[in-house]
Amino acid sequence: EGTKTIQVRVNGQIYKREVPIRMLLVDFLREELGLTGTHVGCSVEGRCGACTIVLNGNNVKSCLLLAVQADGADILTVEGLGEPDNLHPIQEGFWEKHGLQCGYCTPGMMMSVYNLLKVNPHPSVAEIREALVGNICRCTGYEHIIEAVQYAADRIAAMPKEERDK
Ligand code: FES
Ligand code: FES
Repeated sequence: EGTKTIQVRVNGQIYKREVPIRMLLVDFLREELGLTGTHVGCSVEGRCGACTIVLNGNNVKSCLLLAVQADGADILTVEGLGEPDNLHPIQEGFWEKHGLQCGYCTPGMMMSVYNLLKVNPHPSVAEIREALVGNICRCTGYEHIIEAVQYAADRIAAMPKEERDK
């Protein structure tokens, strides 16, 4: 089976790797780059959203793409959001509002929320639900997740503009 050399930018860092042409992008991130924050929650069928990342500004399910299809892409994963001692407002919101239980769905949720708040800084409850329709949570009943998003939106709105654009 063939391999191909790809180059991607992930969380601001450039990686050049030779990958099997059939390797899934989610496996590339987790196994090749060791970024295990991106989860696999279904049998890589695009149903759960746990593997959601930001690729060239769009939310994609990384189990539905091959690594070679991401050649040249700019990727953001949950590891790129914030640090444990410097949480992103979205991470802070999930923490403060108890937006997670088992946490399996959480990284994918956060990446969908990240893109939502970029285009819609003050989403309604209906808009939050709509944005998270591809992210399945089996634990929380979604109420706390919605509160987490509202918390994050308020925190981001209160930030100086330069920081908000990060
Ligand atoms: Fe379930 Fe990708 S792992 S949608
Ligand atoms: Fe368990 Fe969402 S917190 S699946």
